Amino acid sequence: MGKGIGFGKVILFNEHFVVYGLPAIASAIGAKTIALVERRLGSGVEINDERSETEGYKAEKAGQQKESLDLMLNFMNIDAKNNAYRLTLTGDLLAASGVGASAASCVAIARAFSEELGLNFSDDRVNEVAYEGEKGYHGTPSGIDNTAATYGGLIWYKREGSSHHMERMKLKKPVEIVMGNTGLVSDTKAVVGVVKERKEKDPERYASIFKDAERLVHDARKQLEAFHLEEVGYYMDQNHTLLQQIGVSCSELDLLVDIARNNGALGAKLTGTGRGGYMVALTPGKDLQESIAVAIEKKGFQALRTTIGV
Ligand code: MEV
Repeated sequence: MGKGIGFGKVILFNEHFVVYGLPAIASAIGAKTIALVERRLGSGVEINDERSETEGYKAEKAGQQKESLDLMLNFMNIDAKNNAYRLTLTGDLLAASGVGASAASCVAIARAFSEELGLNFSDDRVNEVAYEGEKGYHGTPSGIDNTAATYGGLIWYKREGSSHHMERMKLKKPVEIVMGNTGLVSDTKAVVGVVKERKEKDPERYASIFKDAERLVHDARKQLEAFHLEEVGYYMDQNHTLLQQIGVSCSELDLLVDIARNNGALGAKLTGTGRGGYMVALTPGKDLQESIAVAIEKKGFQALRTTIGV
């Protein structure tokens, strides 16, 4: 049996802007997806998805999951017509929008097939395969999610045409965050499409927002590397405003962001696709993390306590 893992992720700055070549910052989180591949009789790949989920996620993504798997099998030159495999997905990463669930599964699947078939994929190869797989979910992925899911850690990421630029970033020490789940499933392909449409309709306004996002991510990087967490929180708040302006927030995300800020988080913003999925709050220290998580849970939402910069 072949086994592989992929990390969940949180985007700290510039989701969506990253699709257009602006830099973004992301971190792997502690939770992971595990894929197991074993041979069976018959033909084709049977998917046995045992991940816990936000209600409705797996049913809504079933078509995209199949498309993604076909893209990866094709890219890896694996003949699943004359061979048969059982693919099991498990692990402690919730199958949900905003935590990089699709990317983590693509990375885990690439690694599991590599192990089962003795393909000896390097991390770079795993990342390339997972990028192909992400096309099934995203249409035009920037590649930030699969890159974070493959390499782990904290990364500075920029799409550069058909390639990308990634730098590892170092934090003085890991920092606690809370991720609040709206419980809503979002469709990355659709939301990325909405941004594209709005950008084309109002190029001047979007050019100005994109300029702000570019400046912001460079300033945020400096503060993050200097471990000035108050300032990092400030830039997260500002980034949320820019994301609201491009139309990817929603009332549930704004509510969770407000709860976190009102309870002392240093900053909070939506993370990932938006219009559902997760938000992230910067909550250094176990006590602050716990009080923000409890405040979110008291309002009936799920909260994930994790860290960045490990
Ligand atoms: C989704 O996690 C992040 C987006 O920026 C899409 C992408 O980068 O491909 C919304």
